[in-house]
Amino acid sequence: MKSDIYFFSGTGNSYLLAKLFSQQLAESHIFNIVKYDAEEDGDLNKNFILVFPTYGFSVPDTVLGFLSKVNLDQYSYFFIVTTKGGSPEFCRKDLSKIFQKKKKSIDAFFSIKMPNNSVFIHDFNTPEDILVKINSAKEFVKSSIPLINNRERPIPEEQKMRITQRVIFRLINTVAHHTNYMCFDNGFSVSETCNSCGTCQKVCPTHKVSLIDGLPSWKNKEPCYACTACINYCPRGSIKNKILKPSKINETNQYRNPDISLNEMVKNNL
Ligand SMILES: Cc1cc2nc3c(=O)[nH]c(=O)nc-3n(C[C@H](O)[C@H](O)[C@H](O)COP(=O)(O)O)c2cc1C
Ligand code: SF4
Ligand code: SF4
Repeated sequence: MKSDIYFFSGTGNSYLLAKLFSQQLAESHIFNIVKYDAEEDGDLNKNFILVFPTYGFSVPDTVLGFLSKVNLDQYSYFFIVTTKGGSPEFCRKDLSKIFQKKKKSIDAFFSIKMPNNSVFIHDFNTPEDILVKINSAKEFVKSSIPLINNRERPIPEEQKMRITQRVIFRLINTVAHHTNYMCFDNGFSVSETCNSCGTCQKVCPTHKVSLIDGLPSWKNKEPCYACTACINYCPRGSIKNKILKPSKINETNQYRNPDISLNEMVKNNL
């Protein structure tokens, strides 16, 4: 049985899992959804595997855009994974609605704890935490292979939240989406420590960053996916975001998945 593995990833967590799925599943193909081009091979019995980070307690806009374009009729089994820093509260519910509209249902949904790359709270990651989370995520992929091969439908029970907490989280989710996760689009600046290496330009999935006179600029018309790649892959920790935690972002508290190289992330965008 063929498997198409789709991923979106800013700092490598979701890409690591997608890559492991593609290495461990026979007849699999891996696709970056940012470059999705609607190619079909006529097979209507494939597995659809989707891995993406939770944003604003739900599904990133990038993934929603991809789901509106992809032809789900090519697939007869749907296995979804979100990598999360903390809470994926509305991911499964919001995704299920989209699948229902397309007359499909999700067969398996998992939210997997990974190191947090959000610039709000990424300094919570300790090296030990990072290792533990990544190792258990790798185990998760290993244990998922027989589930996918047998097309099982293991949707684990979700933790129930108190109603007041849910209302507050939904409010934050709505504001976060409407402000592109708290105004990523126009909140960037660069400090004098920048060495003009161009990494921020190469890792940006939307090609929004360009170097002008040796310094990064975000002023072009491309969208920002709020993926934090430019912030987290800068070797000098020089990129700040005024809305988030400018004073806290430096080269000692960035996060990028240690199992995925910068080269791989750059290649994913080419
Ligand atoms: C803009 C933004 C919003 C996020 N919101 C959430 C959230 O609501 N809940 C959560 O559990 N993690 C959240 N995270 C953390 C990421 O989902 C998590 O670190 C993920 O594994 C990153 O995956 P990646 O390395 O593939 O980009 C957020 C990250 C970013 C950049
Ligand atoms: S500008 Fe930065 S945060 Fe926005 S999409 Fe590009 S790399 Fe990601
Ligand atoms: S990645 Fe950092 S050091 Fe390199 S050009 Fe961009 S801001 Fe400057």
